[in-house]
Amino acid sequence: MQIKLKTFKQRRKNLANLIKGGIAIIRSGSEKTRSNDTFYPYRSNSYFEYFSGFPEPDSILVIMAKPLKSIIFSKTKNPEKEIWDGYIYGPEKACIDFNLDEGLPIQEFDKFLKDILITEENIYLLDEDVELRSKLSHIALSIKGSARSRLQKKNQISSLNYYADQLRIIKSKEEIDCIRKACSISSSAHRYVMENIHNDSNEFQIDARLNYIFSMQGAQAEAYKSIVASGNNACTLHYIKNNSKLNKGDLVLIDAGCEYNHYASDITRTFPIGGSFSAPQRDVYEIVLAAQKKAIDQVKKNNRFDDPHKSAVEVLSQGLIDLKVLKKSISEIVEKKLYAKFFMHRTSHWMGMDVHDVGNYFTANSGSAVLSDGQVLTIEPGLYFADNASVPKAFRGIGIRIEDDVLVSGKEAEILTSDCPKEISALESIIGKS
Ligand code: GLY
Ligand code: MN
Ligand code: MN
Repeated sequence: MQIKLKTFKQRRKNLANLIKGGIAIIRSGSEKTRSNDTFYPYRSNSYFEYFSGFPEPDSILVIMAKPLKSIIFSKTKNPEKEIWDGYIYGPEKACIDFNLDEGLPIQEFDKFLKDILITEENIYLLDEDVELRSKLSHIALSIKGSARSRLQKKNQISSLNYYADQLRIIKSKEEIDCIRKACSISSSAHRYVMENIHNDSNEFQIDARLNYIFSMQGAQAEAYKSIVASGNNACTLHYIKNNSKLNKGDLVLIDAGCEYNHYASDITRTFPIGGSFSAPQRDVYEIVLAAQKKAIDQVKKNNRFDDPHKSAVEVLSQGLIDLKVLKKSISEIVEKKLYAKFFMHRTSHWMGMDVHDVGNYFTANSGSAVLSDGQVLTIEPGLYFADNASVPKAFRGIGIRIEDDVLVSGKEAEILTSDCPKEISALESIIGKS
């Protein structure tokens, strides 16, 4: 389950076909200093990875569209540094091993930028790379001062994301295999937590169990910091402290997914720490589960991105009436978004190399994006009744979200995370049973 070398080449070709001419520049990113001489783990920029597969930080990929030529700028070899930090390819080997057309020392990049400002009219940069954009402007200014006549009259800097995202949003079979693997490892990790939770007394032990399975099964990292939120903590949507004591009578909401070969997974499960749902916990859970299933039913080719969300909102709104949390008509709850007090996020986002992956959510003129085969999105409705919320007392401190990753595939979507239990009976039969 790895992206093949020839795939990176094909991706560069696809990009060249889209931009037609001009030149695209993508930086890998650098190691980030934590303090002094310690660093956060390096993870390449996803666009850089998508088009090159080259693993070293401080590298730059240049794709010249016509005729197609790809250049890698990378660190030069440094035997002394390599003793400490490991192998450096060096530009020549980088070029050969990664099937590129030319490898140049990173030190030559600024001179290269100067040259392309004179020879190239259209330059494509990542929207987020404001540093490179500013560098180009500075170089352009300095050239203007010294060689006005040689500068391209209208160097146009355009959004590379606009084109690259059209490619990244549709996942190939190879990519889906990587996502499938990430989903399978994450499902195992959630199951492992469920089976062993009776041995745990704090959220941090659950966090440790998740990371243990991620690493044991070959994932390289968390796709995002895991949320392990017991009791009322589940009502803080981005809770990542993961350090509260576990109470047997509470639910725990776990939002955790690993990254496998640069592809994410994203699963949320909520279940009773003590092994069985109380009546109010069950009532809320059944509503969220019904909303999630109804939303998944809407994931089909040619439906809109918004359709799952609309279905989820309908079921949740009716549920809020049934729970006597809201005493309005369903149409009023939906139209005035009264549900949003208890369901304050959206149902879905794209998922791929990044957990919140690239891709438009709207079409230019006609509303919500149309779903196509090969897209991967999450379905993650929830209900959150904080312990100070104005809801019947029995529901206070209950926060529930259920999240699966779903592949658009014709009329019936494929749930990539279906190995992770979510039915009440399945949960109650596995919790604490190791
Ligand atoms: N885990 C991030 C999200 O569900 O969007
Ligand atoms: Mn998500
Ligand atoms: Mn999530």
